[in-house]
Amino acid sequence: MEFIIVTEQYYPGIALIQLNRPKELNALNRKLMEEVRDALQALDKNEGVRVIIITGNEQAFAAGADIKQMADKSAIDMLLIDQFSTWDQIRRTKKPIIAAVSGFALGGGCEFTMMCDMIIASETAKFGQPEIKIGTIPGAGGTQRLTKAIGKAKAMELILTGRFLSAEEAHFYGLVNKVVPVEMLMHEAVELAKEIAQMSPVAVQLAKEAINRSFETQLDEGLAFERKNFYLTFASADQKEGMQAFIEKRKPTYTGK
Ligand code: HXC
Repeated sequence: MEFIIVTEQYYPGIALIQLNRPKELNALNRKLMEEVRDALQALDKNEGVRVIIITGNEQAFAAGADIKQMADKSAIDMLLIDQFSTWDQIRRTKKPIIAAVSGFALGGGCEFTMMCDMIIASETAKFGQPEIKIGTIPGAGGTQRLTKAIGKAKAMELILTGRFLSAEEAHFYGLVNKVVPVEMLMHEAVELAKEIAQMSPVAVQLAKEAINRSFETQLDEGLAFERKNFYLTFASADQKEGMQAFIEKRKPTYTGK
């Protein structure tokens, strides 16, 4: 594993996956997501594990998909790369996953936390879908999951402006379960995990599956629609300009082409 650290027994019955690309604020390149997928599939089969916690570091859970890896791709490249099949496999994890979030959870990073089952945030956490600022849109479920989590008006505002939600706001809008001081983050995530770990693992798995089923048919259709539109932005000059401007650390100039 190059970009994550897996601790099978972080606490009895509780596994920890730490995203570990700190210099790039845990930007989610494809290899990192494949490692997360592989780790989750192994933990799902491991009878000694009941609950999985995923975290980043104090600065960032993850600042989004890796812009440098995507910047020059065409719409068809994105379609053929098909990175979201990895995300779909992650989504099929049977055991409950708690995201413990400090610092930035942006773009794909925010989408990743929403793909987890519960979120514990530290007071420094910042959630957002800033893709619009680099000429694209959320592609890993943001338009679907954020809207369901916090409602249409706020999701529209966040996705169309790229503004961030503070931890307190995220709690107010029901995106996160609890906000705690940064030094209490892992303690709080473990406390929640310990409580769930005492329950029947069969009942926990079936309850998770049933809750997810409450919006899954709609979600599948919504995700497919979002993906096509996300790929379509890669046919625009604005996406090339937006991502290039980020890499060159300058303001983008959009032409609407
Ligand atoms: C690649 C990234 C990155 C990213 C940060 N870095 N975010 N590299 N992809 N998403 C890199 C920077 O280039 C920089 O590298 C280093 O991490 C530190 O970042 P800085 O920008 O210098 O830090 P700071 O000034 O503190 O600003 C933090 C930030 C900013 C506000 C989070 O980095 C930022 O705006 N990042 C991009 C956020 C974003 O647009 N996310 C959405 C991506 S699209 P160097 O080498 O310069 O030191 C997306 C699509 C999802 O997620 C759908 C597909 C899954």
